[in-house]
Amino acid sequence: MSIKPIEFKDGRLRMIDQRLLPTKEVWLEYTDYQEVAEAIKTMVVRGAPAIGVAAAFGAAFGARDIETVGFEDFLREWEQVCAELAATRPTAVNLFWALDRMKACAVRHQEQGLAEVKRLLLAEAQEIGREDEEINRTMGAHGEPLIPTGARILTHCNAGALATGGYGTALGVIRAAAAAGKVTRVYADETRPFLQGSRLTAWELHKDGIPVTLICDNMAGYLMSRGEIDCVIVGADRIAANGDTANKIGTYTVAVLAREHGLPFYVAAPISTLDLSLADGSLIPIEERDRREVTHVGDKQLAPDGIDVRNPAFDVTPARLITAIITERGVVKGDYLRGLRALAQEK
Ligand code: MRU
Repeated sequence: MSIKPIEFKDGRLRMIDQRLLPTKEVWLEYTDYQEVAEAIKTMVVRGAPAIGVAAAFGAAFGARDIETVGFEDFLREWEQVCAELAATRPTAVNLFWALDRMKACAVRHQEQGLAEVKRLLLAEAQEIGREDEEINRTMGAHGEPLIPTGARILTHCNAGALATGGYGTALGVIRAAAAAGKVTRVYADETRPFLQGSRLTAWELHKDGIPVTLICDNMAGYLMSRGEIDCVIVGADRIAANGDTANKIGTYTVAVLAREHGLPFYVAAPISTLDLSLADGSLIPIEERDRREVTHVGDKQLAPDGIDVRNPAFDVTPARLITAIITERGVVKGDYLRGLRALAQEK
């Protein structure tokens, strides 16, 4: 059983504080949309699908607290709530996908009265979370045949249970391959500066008894050059129509290394991570985060006072470096433009 980072119980949203892992397991409770927005911004909850689930609950809480009488007035106020949630983080498209799905739910049921619309919005948020885990298990089953027996797999960042409604995307494929007895070892890049690899991926795999070795980001090339890695699998925050993929900063570097060493490089992501409105990855908005994430680890200062810093949180891996994209509707290889569009249109 892998962890579920988001729970809904007795009218409260509970989320494990991912900033404190792996040393402290603290669950925080939310009943208000502004607090949920803050939790997304400050990375209590992170990972594209998990951000979508949290935003859906935020939208449902915001709707519940609106006191207008007619649907039009309700919608006007609620759109402000959704705009605040949408402004938390720019790159993961799952956030916007979840909010659009919530809006469609409200509009679809508007004739049923506001009390019912509010009840259905909360049910929709719960459904988004439940479906996400199911989707990941299906994705795992689609991806598992790509993993060779005895695999030593490199992953970057955390695309695990913690980043989703449960089970994980890239780590979901790894979990499915581990259940099939195929995984010899997972190498987790530590993933500077936020350390999702060392704090989160290493934690959840270790907890689940999947053999995991932590490495610094700059060690991947050395291990590949020695034949100690068989394939790479990562998650995604947004995939453009041509297959270009935004994921955690450093993913592109790993993809280049994988190509140099002739290793397969897989991306695992749900259909909700596709953004077919963008022709290519150059159009994906890339979040720049606080300089302090680079200059400090916790309270420890690692760089001179006043030093210039860049902190892009994501990069874009060009489709030509990606061996296959694994989704819950199947695996796409080669012609991503056609393949992704066909999967997106399936019902
Ligand atoms: O900044 P984060 O921690 O939200 O970034 C997360 C990633 O880049 C993940 O790899 C991605 O969201 C996929 S999660 C299934």
